Amino acid sequence: MKSTSEILSQKNMELSDLTTLLLLEDKNDIDMLYKRAYQVKTENVGTKVFFRGIIELSNICAKDCYYCGIRKSNESIERFIMEEEEILNAAKWAYEAGYGSIVLQSGERCDSKFTEFIETLLIKIKNQTENKLGITLSLGEQTEGTLKRWFNAGGHRYLLRIETSNPSLYQSLHPDTHSFNERITCLKTLKSLGYQTGTGVMIGLPNQTIEDLANDLAFFKQNDIDMIGMGPFIPHHDTPLAHSMGNFDDYKNKQLELALKMIAVARIYLKDVNIASTTALQALDHSGREMGLQAGANIIMPNVTDTKYRDKYQLYDNKPCMDENSTMCKACLGNRVKSVGETIGYNEWGDSPHFKKRLK
Ligand code: 5AD
Ligand code: FES
Repeated sequence: MKSTSEILSQKNMELSDLTTLLLLEDKNDIDMLYKRAYQVKTENVGTKVFFRGIIELSNICAKDCYYCGIRKSNESIERFIMEEEEILNAAKWAYEAGYGSIVLQSGERCDSKFTEFIETLLIKIKNQTENKLGITLSLGEQTEGTLKRWFNAGGHRYLLRIETSNPSLYQSLHPDTHSFNERITCLKTLKSLGYQTGTGVMIGLPNQTIEDLANDLAFFKQNDIDMIGMGPFIPHHDTPLAHSMGNFDDYKNKQLELALKMIAVARIYLKDVNIASTTALQALDHSGREMGLQAGANIIMPNVTDTKYRDKYQLYDNKPCMDENSTMCKACLGNRVKSVGETIGYNEWGDSPHFKKRLK
């Protein structure tokens, strides 16, 4: 059996090494893992954090994932879609705040009213920011035609989480009508259309094994993924997976540690990709996002959605920043980044170095 320092000093890692690192329990070993991840981050992407202002523009969703608070069957939330002008204002706010790019996220809808609404929005956002604001889309599975139109209208990055690379686990988390293969096909289409492509998984899902997580990392590598957004699974009270945690404090600590280990191993294994320190980390600990940066992440997505909509967009329980507004989140996250000695790349797109190399 190899020691932690032996594994960390290797040039390449095998699947069994990934598993060993994800299973580490000794505090000194885990610290060693985070330190190595930070070193790999410094060498490959630097210590500048890039902000993506996220606009959660609608909680209307045609899908019914068992883990998600805005699933179609959840009748206890009020559904909304932001007005075009509100979205344009949020994008303008992010631009003027010096965030180099934004993320448009919403529940999944494929109807033409929605896809045309997004296309128009993209054109208007690009116009109002002289083509300078970067736009990432996080709008679920779409047809090749829609994705092409959105790309031509100004979307250049796309986030589509695979949720898990284990097909049977995926199926157990979704109704039969949701297909793992279709999701993979969509991810491949995104890449072939020229999008900077992001994916990710939920960490600590019911019935997910450490081997599953190691396979997730191998999946990212095999598919030459540019950006990773992954976070801990956190049950939402109005979903079929509401009761899958037991004692909350024990649960929180375990989920947080596993998520941070995944970030660290991803950084060491994939090196030059962008990795987000996701909001869900902060749902488990006030300093969760700072911990994510220290474990190897380099991207933060501050919420720039109007406060009045925030309580209606809760994918999981305990989501932070519900009563704050965009200005408060900017100040708060600025301080959080500073507290770990890093700087913020204002007015820059902060593309994934992996993407740039892939294009050459
Ligand atoms: N816990 C953590 N993450 C969740 N997501 C949805 N529901 C939950 C939950 N209960 C994540 C999914 C989705 C992303 C937008 O939010 O990974 O892709
Ligand atoms: Fe929103 Fe801290 S990130 S208030």
